[in-house]
Parts: sequence; C-alpha cells; structure tokens
Amino acid sequence: MRSVVPLRRLCAAGLFVLASATGPAVAADSLETYAAALAASLAKACPMASPADTAAHEACRKAIGQGAEASMRDYTFQFGGDQVGKRMKDKKTSVFRGDLYQDLYMSLYMYTGKSSVFTAPDGSRGIAVQAYFRNGLPPGRYPYPFWHTDGDNNANDKWDAYETANELRFYFDKDGRVYYASRSDAGSEDNRGPYTHVDRPTFVGEWMWRDDKGTAQPVVTLFSEAYSPDNPHLPALDAAYRKMAINFRNADCTVCHQPEGHRKMNKLTLLQTPMHAATSIDAVLDEVRSGKMPVDDYNDPKPLNPALKTSLLTDGEAFRNLLNLADGWERTNNRPKARKPVTN
Ligand code: HEC
Repeated sequence: MRSVVPLRRLCAAGLFVLASATGPAVAADSLETYAAALAASLAKACPMASPADTAAHEACRKAIGQGAEASMRDYTFQFGGDQVGKRMKDKKTSVFRGDLYQDLYMSLYMYTGKSSVFTAPDGSRGIAVQAYFRNGLPPGRYPYPFWHTDGDNNANDKWDAYETANELRFYFDKDGRVYYASRSDAGSEDNRGPYTHVDRPTFVGEWMWRDDKGTAQPVVTLFSEAYSPDNPHLPALDAAYRKMAINFRNADCTVCHQPEGHRKMNKLTLLQTPMHAATSIDAVLDEVRSGKMPVDDYNDPKPLNPALKTSLLTDGEAFRNLLNLADGWERTNNRPKARKPVTN
C-alpha cells in the first residue's frame, strides 16, 4: 500500500491509529500531522491540472484512496455544502460510504497540498484541505448531473457551489472518525489557477443514460469502473444490480432516493446508480427487513406487497453476496483498492 508518511513515523509523531471493526480512526491531538499527510497524499494522487483534463481525472480516480485518506474508506458519513450556522440535522446532506465519496466525489477536485485545522462552532476540530473543482469534464464523469435543480434551489445553484468551493472540510467525531465532509468557499483562491465558469445545459434527462456510443452513463458509477476489468464476478454483479434496480422502481424507492430527494428529506441516501446502491445495500436490507422503508409522503411506513418485500430482500441479499465475492476477488488478487473484509 502506498503511504505518504510511513505508519511508524506517524505513530512516533503522535498519530494513533486505533484498530476498530470499521477502520482506523484519527486521534484529535494529532490532527495537524494528519492534515499535512492527507493534503500531501491528495496532492500526489490528484495534483492541479486543467479543470477539463479527463486523463488527469482518470489518474486521480484510480490513485485516490491509497494514502493517508485510506482510513476513511470503510465507513459511512455525510457530505454536503458547509451550510455554516446550521445544526447537523438541519443541513441538507447525502450519506456516502467513504470509498464512494473518494472515488466519485473527491476525485472531482484537484489538490494543492495545503491544509489547515479549524475549530467548528460546537468546539470539535476538523481539517480543511485546499481543493479546486474540475468543471470541464464530460457529463458521465460526474456521479450525476450536479446541474439539476434540487427543489429548494434554482437549477445550477449546486453546480455553482461545486465550482466556487476552494476547500473540502472533514469534521471528526470524538472517536476520530469523519462524521461530516463538506465543500466550503471559505478558503483561499490563491492557487486556483486559470478558471472560467462553465454553463451546463438544463437537466431534463435521466440519472442513468446511454451516450452516443451506447455506453451506460455516468460511467464512473458502474461496477466496471470500481472493480478490476478481469474481476470474474462483474457480469453476475451487473445482473444482480439490474434485478435490484427493478425492485427499487417497483417499490418506489427511487422516487425519493435520487438527487432531487432533498425535497423529501435532509439526510439523503442515494440509490439511483449501481455504486450508490451497492455502498448502501446493508442499510437498504435493514430498512426493508424492519419495515421502516418505504414510507409515504408523510414519512409514515407504507406496507409493501409481501411478494415485493420478499424479492427486495432476496435480490438484495444476492446483490450483497456478489459484492462480497467481487471484493474478495480483488483482495485475493492483491488489487490496490480492494475493500477490507467486513468483520462485524
Ligand atoms: C416518500 C419518500 C421515500 C420513499 C418512497 C422511500 N424512502 Fe427511504 N427514506 C426516506 C426518508 C424521509 C428517510 C429518512 C432520512 C433521514 O434520516 O432523515 C429515508 C431513509 C432511508 C434509508 C437510510 C436509513 C439510514 O440508515 O439512515 C435507506 C437505506 C432507505 N431509506 C431505503 C429505502 C428503500 C429501500 C425504499 C424502497 C423500498 C425507500 N427507502 C423508500 C424517504 C423515502
């Protein structure tokens, strides 16, 4: 594994890496050390380039997740605009597993190696990493069209917020794990380099579509991108996802659990692409099994037709088992971003 600062030196410098079921955590007293290591690692994997450079994005997407940032890949946290002054429960956020957040969202930023440590209004401390957005990539390199209208905002507000951000912030809980990652424009513009606003066409389409060549898009959300091309489980995984997607549609899950779902909830779990569904499958199975989901427009649990509930659970478990097999193959074959075995 590539590591910018060898683990031994980090420990000597006071960065305790606590072993836990879901991954190591960062000790609060060593945030400065970790901030520097994180910023250096991100700048190495995803250095500044032209914001329209697709090859640079591709190199970043492949490289990210193997340095100091690796410790955030295995657990789930919230992401959104910084929304200064709002309490956590009042912020509009999305819920992501760390690996998806890094590969699909953080890779859309370029890093200068600069970082700082800040104190949040509630007294907790966090890390800000200087970052500038790639705004000139083809549409399928964004996990969904960020230029959609999200209900509360005008179309393009979200796109503009991505463009104007100049740092990504990481808020840590008392166990040293990220609970909130945000994009903020409170940082510095000094190192952005040449940058012009890009206008995107009004979004009227689907969250998943086919391009002129017939390729499924957004390409970055497909299993063929997340896994090695020679992973033998890919065809079965695709088939299992397609079955699951039909269930999600039949049970109306994707009416709410898609990027415009912020109309219905603050803390949004996205299920509309293969990788979004994959990284939330455990939560999906828990919610359906316990009868908490789906809900109606008043957020009251809505009973499912028993046959549909059975196929959600059966197909969902089959999908999860294939994900575990595909992850296991990546590990056995020493692929650099293989997911750790699930231990709990
Ligand atoms: C009418 C809108 C609506 C529909 C339909 C719906 N959900 Fe939800 N879902 C919600 C809301 C609201 C929440 C709670 C968000 C929060 O924590 O504030 C939620 C939360 C969730 C969560 C996250 C739970 C957690 O761990 O925090 C999952 C997973 C989920 N829903 C799955 C599903 C699935 C699967 C279906 C279809 C069977 C479904 N939902 C249908 C609105 C909906």
